[in-house]
Amino acid sequence: MMTRADIQSGALRGDAFRELLLSVPLVERDGWVDALLGFDAPPPDSADLPRGAVPYLPCGVDEILAMVAEVPLRRDDTFVDLGSGMGRVAILAHLLSGARAQGVEVQEPLVHLARARCAELALPRVSFVHANAADTDLDGSVFFLYAPFNGEMLSAVLRRIEEVARRRPIVVCTVDLELHGVPWLRARTTGNVSLTLYDSCVRGVPVR
Ligand SMILES: C[S@@+](CC[C@H](N)C(=O)[O-])C[C@H]1O[C@@H](n2cnc3c(N)ncnc32)[C@H](O)[C@@H]1O
Repeated sequence: MMTRADIQSGALRGDAFRELLLSVPLVERDGWVDALLGFDAPPPDSADLPRGAVPYLPCGVDEILAMVAEVPLRRDDTFVDLGSGMGRVAILAHLLSGARAQGVEVQEPLVHLARARCAELALPRVSFVHANAADTDLDGSVFFLYAPFNGEMLSAVLRRIEEVARRRPIVVCTVDLELHGVPWLRARTTGNVSLTLYDSCVRGVPVR
């Protein structure tokens, strides 16, 4: 039986970790992952979330597995979860692919919890920034949004992501969020109904 110690030692990664997750019955998988990685129940959301910000709710493990396989996420990618909560997506994306992973989260208590998880799991290639994603410079090759914000805040973050796409080809992954009328993104259908992938297509920058 693989344990948290196998994560900490680096023995449990990539395909072996993926196979282990898939061996757990679907209905038990999310709770099982939380127990393995040491995620407790989240604290209450901040009472003063900025306008357009969606409260914390973790993305399902199945959507994360589908995203890693379908991008496909590679060790030389830099993965960025915008609105990273307690860090589950960034940590799982890293463990499944080896990619460097970063989370950007506006609620400071969640950032502290995410950093504590990484420290305990000994994951130096995963980091978390306390920031409003609409107000911070971004960089990375794969961006993930589990419906973290809407309205003008979403538009502002998309402008930040477009700045990255002007420098390099990127993939934007959304769960439970359709991006309409974004001319520099081309949607790909995926095998997961909740997940959409978008390839950047800014003129002059090659598609990934
Ligand atoms: C639906 S949860 C997704 C959490 C995480 N991606 C996951 O799946 O486990 C949305 C998160 O986005 C955060 N958030 C909302 N607006 C934000 C913003 N402008 N900048 C950074 N984080 C934001 C919220 O605090 C919340 O933790």
